[in-house]
Amino acid sequence: MIKIESLTVQFGGVRPLDALDGEFTAPICGLIGPNGAGKTTLLNVLSGFVTPVKGSVSLNGIALRPLSPVRRVAMGLRRTFQQELVVDEMTAHDNVRAIADHIAASRQEARAQIGRAMDFVGLTDRAHVPGRQLNLYERRMIEIGKTLIGKPRAILLDEPGAGLNESETERLRGLLVQIPERFGAQLVLIDHDADLIASVCVETMVLDFGKLLAFGPTRVVLDDPVVRRAYLGTA
Ligand SMILES: Nc1ncnc2c1ncn2[C@@H]1O[C@H](COP(=O)(O)OP(=O)(O)OP(=O)(O)O)[C@@H](O)[C@H]1O
Ligand SMILES: [Mg+2]
Repeated sequence: MIKIESLTVQFGGVRPLDALDGEFTAPICGLIGPNGAGKTTLLNVLSGFVTPVKGSVSLNGIALRPLSPVRRVAMGLRRTFQQELVVDEMTAHDNVRAIADHIAASRQEARAQIGRAMDFVGLTDRAHVPGRQLNLYERRMIEIGKTLIGKPRAILLDEPGAGLNESETERLRGLLVQIPERFGAQLVLIDHDADLIASVCVETMVLDFGKLLAFGPTRVVLDDPVVRRAYLGTA
């Protein structure tokens, strides 16, 4: 469970998060809002890349603010970035293995975890292909595969569906719904695709210029006229 209390982030005159409160309790939670709403900033605070001026965040009851980004990874926090971080010169397998070097307990365990992650994201047959030859979907799968190494407890995905075509989105959807049970991790999913959010997220938080616009069961939130006006552009 991820808890956010009175969270405020300030960059000069900009407040990307302004006294934000909320608790992600469902196995898969959505985080939506227009461009610049503060979604990535919230992930940055949770993963330790941005220090808030006020407020607290916790994972399963443990306060995150005193912990470095590396310590947060050690306790099971994982994330992907909006711009994927696949190394072009390394194979698909080695891109995932590079993470295991930092996280997995033993070599044997690392090998098993890499195999399981590669298999899950469907990249086993592409294991020896260099990063530069992987398409967008495969690069996203590398990024998701990396989050599954070790013992993930919460996985934060920053627009994993952006730019994917319909059948790729369908495959992504099929994987996301399996993660909580198979890997024991809670998922927080940022995406602009309301259909994807509606079909996988049990509860959804809507941000609007750093403020909480709505939060609750996804269907209720997406049907809320306030959300539809502000975010979906319909009344
Ligand atoms: N390092 C930074 N320095 C200054 N301003 C920043 C910084 N990072 C983000 N911002 C500003 O904070 C606001 C929120 O940005 P953020 O990236 O969190 O939005 P977002 O909801 O992820 O948007 P998008 O859907 O476009 O990814 C924006 O106005 C952005 O310009
Ligand atoms: Mg963003």
